[in-house]
Amino acid sequence: MLRRLLPLIVKLRDWSPSTYYFLVRIARRFMGEEFGAYPHMLANEIGAVVEILSSSQWNMTYGRGLAHERLEVEFAESVGAGHAIAVASGGVALQMALRAMGLKPGDEAIHQVDTCSATAMAVMNAGVTPVFADICDRTFMLDRSDVEGRIGPQTKALIATHMWGNPENMSALRALAQARGLKLIEDACLGLGAVVQGRPAGSWGDVGIFSFGCVKPIQTGEGGMIVTDDESLARELRSLRHWGDRTIEFGVRDATQLAWNGRMSEILAGIAREQLKGYPKHLEEVRDAVGEFQLTLAGFPGLSLVLGTSETVADCSFSQVVLRLDEALAGFDKTKLMAELTKNGIANWHANFELINSLSFIRSGAWRDWILRGDIDRVEENNGGRFPVAERVFARDGLGLGKTNFLSAGNRAHLQSVLRSLTKRGAA
Ligand SMILES: Cc1ncc(COP(=O)(O)O)c(C=O)c1O
Repeated sequence: MLRRLLPLIVKLRDWSPSTYYFLVRIARRFMGEEFGAYPHMLANEIGAVVEILSSSQWNMTYGRGLAHERLEVEFAESVGAGHAIAVASGGVALQMALRAMGLKPGDEAIHQVDTCSATAMAVMNAGVTPVFADICDRTFMLDRSDVEGRIGPQTKALIATHMWGNPENMSALRALAQARGLKLIEDACLGLGAVVQGRPAGSWGDVGIFSFGCVKPIQTGEGGMIVTDDESLARELRSLRHWGDRTIEFGVRDATQLAWNGRMSEILAGIAREQLKGYPKHLEEVRDAVGEFQLTLAGFPGLSLVLGTSETVADCSFSQVVLRLDEALAGFDKTKLMAELTKNGIANWHANFELINSLSFIRSGAWRDWILRGDIDRVEENNGGRFPVAERVFARDGLGLGKTNFLSAGNRAHLQSVLRSLTKRGAA
């Protein structure tokens, strides 16, 4: 019953936010577990979809004040960027960004070895060669000196990832990119709402990319966004998402680039607008919950929070909450910890992805069918190399706790009680 009423209740947010939050508090008492699930509605997503489905405009076209155009304005404002371009996914956003910035086959883009494999795949699908770099032990983010050592004559771009919404050190990476003449792409697919030295994540690079897919800060089923301050780049990107069509952006019926269908459907744009509306409050609640959890960690020896290059939960957007495990101090290892959490229904995963060079596609040499230009010996050496910190974080030191653990008081209490009993047994 309450579930049926929810769309009506969320409509209240626009009319009377205080009544809305009062009703949400009451509903939470009865639906704690459902509010602990994610994704969930952050505003009036159902109303937005109904409105779009009731209209005759389900696809993206231009200049008619459609949902995606309004979303682009709102999104650009929310991350402090001059332009936003709504697209079909974070991956296609990355491909489009590389092409729009002029990268060609044989050029290389450096990114961390343990980000989502989508990043390397997207780089390759743009015809560009991914070069992997290790991460830093303290932050679990890119190791800047390792990046520097991997820059070669073909390197044209650096991709900085705000892993799980933990902020990267963008001022340092931007200085490095500028000094070495590299384009800087900020992969904020997991990091909407994260803050870097007082500025929104995504607003530091030549372009910032975002995903609205699974496990992402806001979710629309699928979808993504590119932001940039460069107007001519924004026009090029809009052209690239329409199979390179130049008519709308440049007034000529022509195509000058190999391009994609990177369009976002109006239906998803409608959902994204509502998710974006409710996101600041949602993020505030998540940060408060993680902040409380951080205080309790003093009682769990060997477990500590990793906030990337920041010192405070207020800078992070927590697509996952990242923990460092010191096995010796804790008295249990990562395998035991993950098994125990899973057994007790607590969403958990690693703090980084399987290293991309460990995937069969790379290990088997199948990448050779697709990387046809550039310094192949150098690519082979990079692909076959070791990345000791990322390897250790994946095997032993890093753990991710799913956001759902922090979205209801019941889930938070359950997490703590399972950690308490593990800690007692570890100490025994
Ligand atoms: C860091 C990162 N970059 C890029 C992507 C690709 O986004 P999408 O799945 O929307 O293509 C993902 C997806 O999980 C991601 O986690």
